[in-house]
Amino acid sequence: MAFDRYGRRIHYLRISLTDRCNLRCQYCMPEDMSFRPSAELMQDEEILTLVRLFAGLGIDKIRLTGGEPTVRANVVDLVGAIAHTPGIRSVSMTTNGLLLGRLAGPLKQAGLQRVNFSLDTLDPEKYRQLTRLGTIERFWEGLRAAEEAGLLPVKINTVVVRDYNDEDVVELARLTIDNPWHIRFIEMMPFAGATDFQTSRVVTAEEIRARIEDALGTLEPLNGGQLDGEARLYRFSHGKGVVGFISTLSHPFCASCTRIRLTPDGRLRLCLLRENEVDLLTPLRAGATLEELRSLVVEGIWNKPWGNRLAEGEIPMNRTMSQIGG
Ligand code: 5AD
Ligand code: SF4
Repeated sequence: MAFDRYGRRIHYLRISLTDRCNLRCQYCMPEDMSFRPSAELMQDEEILTLVRLFAGLGIDKIRLTGGEPTVRANVVDLVGAIAHTPGIRSVSMTTNGLLLGRLAGPLKQAGLQRVNFSLDTLDPEKYRQLTRLGTIERFWEGLRAAEEAGLLPVKINTVVVRDYNDEDVVELARLTIDNPWHIRFIEMMPFAGATDFQTSRVVTAEEIRARIEDALGTLEPLNGGQLDGEARLYRFSHGKGVVGFISTLSHPFCASCTRIRLTPDGRLRLCLLRENEVDLLTPLRAGATLEELRSLVVEGIWNKPWGNRLAEGEIPMNRTMSQIGG
């Protein structure tokens, strides 16, 4: 088992399979985003070697992210191999959903358990504007395919952007009345690439909740009002689904953070909002033994930071969100 210096047991690994994406969401990347050459990215075998190593340290939960994980070649076989690694109990994915119409069934078959979708508006025209390349019809196709394949419960993540989709939160939350879906509203975080846009348009979870309650009535706290992982969960008394808030900026969840990340180029990223990383891919390619790699991971985890420094004006600038894996 792997613990950090604060006593947090780290058992959740988020692996970014690629920095590429079939969308260009305005708050995530510039329109002319350039991606890493694929030689710099972890190859399938390298990912699997690292997954076995992490599983040996007590990592049992894996989430695949990007960029957009489904644009990676061979993603179905890779998911299968990860899901069948001894010690791994759950494999899920964060996706914009556009390719799930075709991939949901095969991914479920391969061993994927759940997906989190990203959706910031229900308005087709706004969706096109915000994602620059997407159509909401493809999104719904993907979501329906995921439901049919049994990738449940359906969770939808919405990043709230001031003067953009802060009004749409009401219609998004309303979806949980008739559908057994989890809609989770996320405070936008600043990273390299779009910091001005990101910092000037943050909407706090509290404000989002007030807006939803004004329009749709009281949200009842679930889980005794305590954090469930990173989210605080609520439901409408007559609702089938769940409304969640991820308030990374206004109420950081560092105390309950059990996660680490693997960037697409094979760096162990210890905190989303801090720059600390440990390079694993370079030593792996240089022939390091598993024992050597294991020591690097154990030491990295021990040094996992606590707290972000955004209030002090320290924004993580060494990568965009899509190069870390959200
Ligand atoms: N702040 C918060 N969430 C973000 N995402 C992308 N960029 C940001 C940001 N700056 C979200 C996406 C998706 C997930 C992978 O991360 O919308 O839900
Ligand atoms: Fe792609 Fe997600 Fe970034 Fe949008 S937010 S460009 S879907 S990685």
